[in-house]
Amino acid sequence: MTVTASRIGIAHQIAVALDTPDWKTFSVWCETFGPRVGVLKVGLEAFSRWGPKAVELARQHARGVFLDLKLHDIPNTVAGAVDAVRALGVDYLTVHIGGGPDMLEAAAEAARGEIKLLGVTLLTHLDADALEVLELPGPARERVGRWASIAARHGCSGAVCSPREVALLRERLPAPFELVTPGIRPGDSPADDQRRTATPRQALADGADLLVIGRPLTRAADPLAALESLAREIETAAGS
Ligand code: C5P
Repeated sequence: MTVTASRIGIAHQIAVALDTPDWKTFSVWCETFGPRVGVLKVGLEAFSRWGPKAVELARQHARGVFLDLKLHDIPNTVAGAVDAVRALGVDYLTVHIGGGPDMLEAAAEAARGEIKLLGVTLLTHLDADALEVLELPGPARERVGRWASIAARHGCSGAVCSPREVALLRERLPAPFELVTPGIRPGDSPADDQRRTATPRQALADGADLLVIGRPLTRAADPLAALESLAREIETAAGS
């Protein structure tokens, strides 16, 4: 990967998703993006391959680390996992709101205020047809709104939602409850497997706190140039 000199400051509201099967690539991304964005996100793929070593490397380069394990199990098991993650020193950890209030509360208790728990509402690749198949009919945004409120009531510091639902959630759940949005696609990027997407500018205007961005940055021919252009877009959005 070619890395050009960066002219941007720190893009605090960006979390780069480090999804790759290759350790060398993971390391280069940590070095490239870590000092330039607010958060590095270690996902299921990296954690399943390399475990705590992946978190440790991300921590060495990043201001903040987001461990995206999307925990979903009985309360006792989730509490045990959260307790183990606490020792890794991450800033954010995801849990599925679908695990229910008891699971969320067990997770929050185990986090002891040392990790911000983010409740995952509906995954952003699920479109209306998929929700119908899952017998979760009705507007996704209504379900996301209800589930995010459950997360807020049961110990989560924020929620993960698609950018299409940010505006509704912001209305119902004011700061400091954090809204974290994947499914971000700058104007010229392909949607990949994401369905409920929006541009970074729109997501921020609607009230998102943190934008999770993977492939539009990591798969770009020139990742730093892509980050610079994204950061400029965000700065303009903040100034307008
Ligand atoms: O490459 P892309 O920008 O689509 O990456 C999005 C990242 O956000 C992935 O790491 C994915 O696991 C994560 N994510 C998501 N949808 C959610 C929660 C997390 O796409 N609801």
